[in-house]
Amino acid sequence: MSTHNVWTHKGTFLLAAVGSAVGLGNLWRFPYLAGENGGGAFILIYALTIFAVGIPILIAEIMLGRNSRRSPIMGMRFLTRTHQTSRAWESIGWLGAASAFIILSFYSVIAGWALHYTGKMLTGSLDGADAETIAAGFDALLASPPLLALYHTLFIGASALIVGLGIHRGIENGLRILMPALFVILMVVLVYAAAIGDLGGAADFLFTFHVGDLSLEGWLEAMGQSFFTLSLGMGAIMAYGAYMSGEASLTRTAFTIAVVDTGVALIAGLAIFALVFGAGLDPAEGPGLMFVTLPLAFAEMPGGPLLGGIFFILVLGAAISSSISLIEPVAAFLVERFDLSRPQAVSAMVVASWALGLLTVFSFNLMAEGTIFHSLFGRSAFGLLELLTNIFMPLGGLLIALFAGWALTHGEVMKEMRTNETWFRAWRFLVRFVAPAAVAFVFLRSVPQVEG
Ligand code: PHE
Ligand code: NA
Repeated sequence: MSTHNVWTHKGTFLLAAVGSAVGLGNLWRFPYLAGENGGGAFILIYALTIFAVGIPILIAEIMLGRNSRRSPIMGMRFLTRTHQTSRAWESIGWLGAASAFIILSFYSVIAGWALHYTGKMLTGSLDGADAETIAAGFDALLASPPLLALYHTLFIGASALIVGLGIHRGIENGLRILMPALFVILMVVLVYAAAIGDLGGAADFLFTFHVGDLSLEGWLEAMGQSFFTLSLGMGAIMAYGAYMSGEASLTRTAFTIAVVDTGVALIAGLAIFALVFGAGLDPAEGPGLMFVTLPLAFAEMPGGPLLGGIFFILVLGAAISSSISLIEPVAAFLVERFDLSRPQAVSAMVVASWALGLLTVFSFNLMAEGTIFHSLFGRSAFGLLELLTNIFMPLGGLLIALFAGWALTHGEVMKEMRTNETWFRAWRFLVRFVAPAAVAFVFLRSVPQVEG
């Protein structure tokens, strides 16, 4: 049974997919990874992967969703039946659901930190604070399971509310307000950062390419980040694609998503590093870049509390438009497969993911380094979950590329792509050979991690 739900407008899929793509990956992960890996060289590899590998897989994933018009798991079941291919391809749907479930669990905890900092900024309580105070504040937040759990609950609850209202009343309406607001805020932050920070320094840092500087690890990080940032390989885009208008162009839509996502990452990077350099701080802070370094920059600048508050609202909005895309594929599956009502399906998914998220909450305190858990597994539970998604996401992307490249017929692809032979051939070459090779390469990065 197909639900045949379709977005209200031809362009709504684009809005939803951009909402999914633009998130903590752009505002938090991209800048700190670029900062740790020497800036420009990292970005060059990142951008190359987005265009040579990310876009072809993005097209493939949307294609599978729109062609099956079902949630990823049921959609892959349907496609393997109609193609009489191995049921092993159904693992695309299951891998996606598992990754969505896991990513949501820790994504929500980290987004919860942004909730904390929104409050800190708007109440002005960090105004004028020094480096020690701000670092100690972050440590105190991480040391408190109740506080982390509270923010995690609020964030995941808000996401559930939006998805629970349905794709039209909840997701579409939410995004129609949220996304334009986010772009306005991003521009305000950029202009302000340019006015008071060191925009030239930031641009030098981000756009001076010394590929030789890049370690293999940095190279692999860049490729992994390009999958994460486009929400690839985990059913989120496939689930949204199932509701995509048959008239919208696949190629143009996929390019637009990639260009907007890359643009947001670069603008966020410019703004953040302009503020960081302007305040004379270190760009290579790692995950603490947004939660320690940036608040310190805000604490020292004129109008910092307001700009900081606005900035963390941007982070929250971007995160929630991504987290809802993690709920949708699993919730839609539960509705299709078990005939649950949407609120029931969303609750089941979110409550389970919330519980898993407690492991991430405890990873910073009760199960942090030095505790039994950490010595047993050699890493925190959060580290383990991240590692799992580092394996599942590329694997999902690889299988999607292979299935779309080898199992779909010329006619089926053309029915979705409606393009000329040349682009069809180029795309098929990319998904058949280039993407799998690149993904296998990224995938290898997880192997030493498993051993170490
Ligand atoms: N693309 C999102 C980001 O950049 C993260 C995400 C990954 C969302 C996978 C959905 C699915 O933050
Ligand atoms: Na992104």
